Amino acid sequence: MDHGYSYRNILDASERVHWRVEDIIGGDKRLDFAKPFMPESLAQVGDLDFLTADEKRILNQIRGHEYLAMFGLVEEFILPYAVDHARENLNGDDHRVRAILGFASEEAKHIHLFKQFRREFADGFASPCEFIGPAEDVQKFVLSHSPLGVGIAILHIEWITLRHYIDSVRDSQDLDPQFKSLLKHHWMEESQHSKIDTLIVEEMAAGASDAKIDLAFEDYGKIGAFIDEGIKQQSEFNAAAFEAATGRKLGASAREALLGALLKGMRWTYLGTGMTHPNFLGTVEKIKPEARAQIEAMAPAFC
Ligand SMILES: [Fe+2]
Ligand SMILES: [Fe+2]
Repeated sequence: MDHGYSYRNILDASERVHWRVEDIIGGDKRLDFAKPFMPESLAQVGDLDFLTADEKRILNQIRGHEYLAMFGLVEEFILPYAVDHARENLNGDDHRVRAILGFASEEAKHIHLFKQFRREFADGFASPCEFIGPAEDVQKFVLSHSPLGVGIAILHIEWITLRHYIDSVRDSQDLDPQFKSLLKHHWMEESQHSKIDTLIVEEMAAGASDAKIDLAFEDYGKIGAFIDEGIKQQSEFNAAAFEAATGRKLGASAREALLGALLKGMRWTYLGTGMTHPNFLGTVEKIKPEARAQIEAMAPAFC
């Protein structure tokens, strides 16, 4: 089905929804640590019945910190990707140039936004939380793949922010208003990015040989596996942060259950939500129908 996206409409929408970092965090807009930050569908800590309600909230907030850090990290490779695609055709269609430069500028703003939230978090949370990285190494690894493969991975990331926003609205939990606002405002701009990236990916795929397309999907798989490795490491960091923040030393079986829930929640948040997103899969199918079938076959392990 034709999506009907155009750089002109995307540019119009982007100009309409524009917001400032100061409108969302800072000043009297503080994180409320009495409330959970992440929708339960993403955090997935509610079933850990050996935790008290306060401990569940703290673990949820640790997942919130990881979310801020993870998006800060991925935006670091999306920014150069967007800049490169604007630069390759600066004399081309005016709407295209402006829409892609706007995309880059918004991602730079999002990096700033996630940093501000992390500062607020560090100010209000009981103990420091570790995060995987460094971002420069991740950026280098991801951008070493074929541009089409990177574009497909980024398209996956753009669409998952829609899922995250919808879950934050649907969720019956009383979430922290600032975190809820972050998910909403991020999506308001990512909504344009997902469309721009659909167009960029389609442009690249249109001129690509079968071999290049096969390579792109291999690369998408490699970037996904790299993120999954990072997630495994991060679940250990989150468990350590939980023990530090609560002062509770978990026994072997409780620790195993906690790590299992963290891994499952992170896999769904960052991988499953993209691998099952109908718009993402629609673009994949247009490029290579077998790749869609493959992604769908693998998705249950991340859902
Ligand atoms: Fe973003
Ligand atoms: Fe984006």
